[in-house]
Amino acid sequence: MSVQFPEQDGWIWRNGEFIPWKDAQVHVMSHAIHYGSSVFEGVRCYLTPEGPAVLRLQDHMRRFTDSARIYRMELPYSAEALGDSVLELIEKNDLEECYIRPLAFRGYGAVGLNPMTSPVETYLACWPWGAYLGAEALNNGVDVCVSSWQRPAPNTFPTLAKAGGNYLNAQLMKMEAVSNGFAEAIALNVRGMVSEGSGQNLFLVRDGVLYTPPLDGSLLPGITRDCVMTLARELDVSVVLEEIPREALYICDELFFTGTASEINPIRSVDRIPVAEGEPGPITRRLQKELMDLAKGLRPDPYGWLTPVRKSGAPSESVKARVTG
Ligand SMILES: Cc1ncc(COP(=O)(O)O)c(C=O)c1O
Repeated sequence: MSVQFPEQDGWIWRNGEFIPWKDAQVHVMSHAIHYGSSVFEGVRCYLTPEGPAVLRLQDHMRRFTDSARIYRMELPYSAEALGDSVLELIEKNDLEECYIRPLAFRGYGAVGLNPMTSPVETYLACWPWGAYLGAEALNNGVDVCVSSWQRPAPNTFPTLAKAGGNYLNAQLMKMEAVSNGFAEAIALNVRGMVSEGSGQNLFLVRDGVLYTPPLDGSLLPGITRDCVMTLARELDVSVVLEEIPREALYICDELFFTGTASEINPIRSVDRIPVAEGEPGPITRRLQKELMDLAKGLRPDPYGWLTPVRKSGAPSESVKARVTG
């Protein structure tokens, strides 16, 4: 589900300063607009009984600085400093639950392809964003297809980097899926094996075992993917990282996407073939519950995945009442 940005009178962080949302503009001749030279992140902040908290903030900021490093973009900020600015930004915008978008790109500089002659601009933005594929999709699952577009081969576009240019391939997948009446697409890699969704990693369950493809140069190392593998081990569900042939999608017991935007989203059919009975299965449901309970502070967080937005000060009574119902 796409959303229009709401009328925003909030703040965006640009190169170390807060500026009004409407002033965060770039020149049309900026390098990134022509050549896709940007790296970004997607992070979520949830409301807990102790106030807003960001899920796996440092892991996202580490991936952000890693993405920049792969593309030789020098960010003048450490992952830790950017994480602190994210927390300040959420507080300044007075948001309790939101999606956060760190972004760095090659800006307005020299003419020509060489990116290193254009300045690197760093931005942080946040806004309220509900379920990526819709609340109903989170509950009932989505219908997906296998895309006719493949993920890039290793050593072409580095998929360990979350780079803007990678999402041209993802857009082709998404447009094809939506035009054919599907909510999402699953891509194969150049070996014809299952890779990931347009903006999500993928897991399948068969005979109580959880399978996901390994990092093979064709998929993003998802942070939600890592959450799911960790939580599955907690539940004594075995996790196997192995290449998945396309036809395994048609004979599995459960299938779901993972991603910061998508959270854990069940898949109910692939290429119009129902996944089992076409209903989200018990392992999917349990993992959904554990992850959301952890993110919302409703169960222990033994992994230290939550970073509170406010360093001090108890949440207001109204916030507490809303969270605990
Ligand atoms: C291509 C792609 N794969 C996987 C993911 C899931 O990654 P994460 O769980 O870190 O959000 C995303 C979303 O960021 C993505 O864009």
